[in-house]
Amino acid sequence: MARKSVPIPVIEGAIFVLFFALLIPAGVVGWVIGHSGSKTVAASTASTSTSATAAVDPAVASGGHLFVQFACAQCHGMQGRGGVSPYVPALTTAGKTLSSAQLRQIINHGLGESANPTKPYMPVWGQVISATQVDDLVAYLHAGLPTVPTAQPPAVPTGQGAAVEGSVLYVGYGCINCHGPNGLGGVPNPLSPDKTIPPLSGQDFRHEFNTDQKIIAVIRSGSVIGKAPIVSMPHWGGIIPQPQLDALVAYLKTLK
Ligand code: HEC
Ligand code: HEC
Repeated sequence: MARKSVPIPVIEGAIFVLFFALLIPAGVVGWVIGHSGSKTVAASTASTSTSATAAVDPAVASGGHLFVQFACAQCHGMQGRGGVSPYVPALTTAGKTLSSAQLRQIINHGLGESANPTKPYMPVWGQVISATQVDDLVAYLHAGLPTVPTAQPPAVPTGQGAAVEGSVLYVGYGCINCHGPNGLGGVPNPLSPDKTIPPLSGQDFRHEFNTDQKIIAVIRSGSVIGKAPIVSMPHWGGIIPQPQLDALVAYLKTLK
């Protein structure tokens, strides 16, 4: 039986086609690797080593720092892992399941706020955070809340007095974002009766909050002055331990 002989040009043609069939995907894969490299979060690298060369996507890195700066980490736990208060959920699932629009809405307008909060609620941040910062926080949540090098709350000094401790806690709990440096206030809150977030210094404050107990009570329970977009005082009960509340008060009493 004569085997069908395949003419040489057909074999050459087949090899030629095969060559391109392999070359094109290889090129595509190479292009994808080359172009996605800069966008890849070195999440695993960052969490297993502190290599200074590990590349982190700038938006995700910014989100990781904002997550600490706006005290998200102080309520939701580092990397949003929870465990701080039974009333504050971990964010590992929300980061995966909620859309960018849903996350932006929650960050800007808060969640669970009631007129008279008896437990922590998700604060309203819209007035004190920029659209870019919210986008970066969303990028961080969608990236799975990776460890970002140096995104850590400031270390609380011990053995240097309560006021020193309190001054660092004032930054660590993000009070500074709303009440300004040195408790000077004046952060815009246009729809609130005073139009600004109040100072934690000055005569009016000292007059109204003339005992440690009054100051601690408002930090613990919060004070809701209106619905979003109005920014209210968050409820910190169960989040900030008593010795740290005392330290915050000691610090506030050193202010102008
Ligand atoms: C004072 C504590 C506190 C702070 C600070 C805080 N949160 Fe929350 N957050 C909460 C609480 C409490 C809830 C649950 C509200 C509810 O469901 O009623 C929540 C809910 C959320 C949710 C929805 C979770 C879900 O599963 O539906 C997201 C997302 C979120 N917070 C993100 C953030 C981000 C980002 C920051 C920092 C900008 C932040 N939170 C700061 C207390 C806080
Ligand atoms: C999301 C913004 C925000 C953050 C963060 C925040 N506050 Fe407030 N705080 C407010 C607003 C708004 C008021 C005004 C509430 C009112 O008038 O009833 C307020 C009121 C207060 C008051 C009472 C002063 C007054 O004149 O009503 C004290 C004390 C206070 N905050 C301390 C703190 C401390 C300490 C922290 C950090 C642990 C903190 N706040 C974090 C927004 C914030």
